[in-house]
Amino acid sequence: MIRRSTTREPLRVAVLVSGTGTNLQALLDRFGAAGSVVRIVAVGASNASAGGLRRARAAAVPTAVFGSGEGRDASLGAWLRRLEVELTVLAGYMAILGPEALAAAPAINVHPSLLPAFPGADAVAQALRHGVRVTGVTVHLVDAGVDTGPILVQESVNVGYDESMAELASRLRAIEHELLPGTVQLLAEDRYSTQGRHARVERDSNTR
Ligand code: GRF
Repeated sequence: MIRRSTTREPLRVAVLVSGTGTNLQALLDRFGAAGSVVRIVAVGASNASAGGLRRARAAAVPTAVFGSGEGRDASLGAWLRRLEVELTVLAGYMAILGPEALAAAPAINVHPSLLPAFPGADAVAQALRHGVRVTGVTVHLVDAGVDTGPILVQESVNVGYDESMAELASRLRAIEHELLPGTVQLLAEDRYSTQGRHARVERDSNTR
């Protein structure tokens, strides 16, 4: 799935954001050091006010903004190719990744529910409205659908009676901050395989 130019070099990753970018921050914190298996080569945003852009600039990572409208997918695809990106990470990216961007590099996404339950926007609110007793976080490969690609890893949490949306969202966010960098690391270390829609990753106690 991931085309590596050489396995000795760090995996070249682009992160796409739309919002505050706390997941981006977790990635920057995990992979910022020299000698890391991953290099975050650029951060793209769907809007110029995305807080993630500030975090990228603070870490001296180049940024770009891809607004809505025709041509966005083509520019995104060209940008990913120019940067020789090997993996795109959607970290709170609230737009659809089109075929040109997906052809440029495979992509993964982090989603705050146990997919296939509650895809799309407002997953935490959907879960609370439904009254589920268990929800969680999913990291999955991106395909042409919305939150439908092969699942790489999931982690569950019990939902407390009367738990507020803010509380649950914050507990899920903390899990995302471990699960997403952990999964990127597994992919960078080539510790995964795919067969159709079934993906298998080799997790150990050090990598959530
Ligand atoms: C996360 O909950 C992620 O699962 C969802 O969007 C949110 C992004 O948060 N897709 P942040 O911008 O990383 O803080």
